[in-house]
Amino acid sequence: MPDHPTDPASDQGVSRIIQGDNLAVLAELADEAFTLIYLDPPFNTGRVQKRQSTTSIRTEAGVGSITGFKGRSYDRIKGDLLAYDDVFENYWEFIEPRLLEAWRLLAPDGTLYLHLDYREAHYAKVLLDALFGRESFLNEIIWAYDYGAKTKSRWPAKHDTILVYVKDPARYYFDSATVDREPYMAPGLVTPEKVAKGKLPTDVWWHTIVSPTGREKTGYPTQKPEGILRRIIQASSREGDWVLDFFAGSGTTGAVAHALGRRFVLVDQNPEAIQVMRTRMPDVPVHGD
Ligand SMILES: C[S@@+](CC[C@H](N)C(=O)[O-])C[C@H]1O[C@@H](n2cnc3c(N)ncnc32)[C@H](O)[C@@H]1O
Repeated sequence: MPDHPTDPASDQGVSRIIQGDNLAVLAELADEAFTLIYLDPPFNTGRVQKRQSTTSIRTEAGVGSITGFKGRSYDRIKGDLLAYDDVFENYWEFIEPRLLEAWRLLAPDGTLYLHLDYREAHYAKVLLDALFGRESFLNEIIWAYDYGAKTKSRWPAKHDTILVYVKDPARYYFDSATVDREPYMAPGLVTPEKVAKGKLPTDVWWHTIVSPTGREKTGYPTQKPEGILRRIIQASSREGDWVLDFFAGSGTTGAVAHALGRRFVLVDQNPEAIQVMRTRMPDVPVHGD
């Protein structure tokens, strides 16, 4: 039996951190419990996953099978695409069963944000279109930063890609009016009132990485900036909603969700991540360790 509540909504609203392999932990969580799922998985973990035969999400959910591009099935698309790249194949075998769980756990008005780097984003986009359905694709967010060494042999890669998919394109929650606004790039071209209000962010987000000397820094190597998570959580959840991050790392998603009045479940298998999260969120109960 799990030692943590399986249905967040029935647990009097207590946010929590769970240590363990996320696939096992997710299997214990109730269907459609989360309005927002943010995932920042490690790329190329090197682990070889047991191969499983794939069925599409909607087949598993019993609502008929989906067809991807031009009537081709998800399995066909996946087979063709993965034949080109062994590294990505291993990665996808790892991530696919976890994305199937994410789909099951998303509320009917829910949204998935999948944070990727340039080596994986394009394959993942094609496969996610086929897995979630192309009509469920909402955005490709580019997070651009400018930090660290720069190669001179090509354009230095200084961006991440965040793919956004909704569970149901007719019902998803999105409210950009609540999002922090940005300065205009050419303030002289708009009215002073507009300059004072700032502009709505687009799908390209300029944001510094977590500063090595700044207030946010936890010491966890892959920590993402709170500003990126703030936008995501502001736009795609309401106060009181449940947010899930099952590659939680330093717990940025939970820290921001808490500050914005959302409830959350964070999962990570690494004891160092759990320790960082304990320090960052001392009042949040930890299960599974
Ligand atoms: C890129 S980091 C996430 C960083 C996070 N977004 C932050 O702001 O700190 C990915 C995390 O996934 C965790 N992880 C990898 N495989 C996992 C698995 N099977 N189950 C649970 N956690 C896993 C790693 O321990 C790592 O902390």
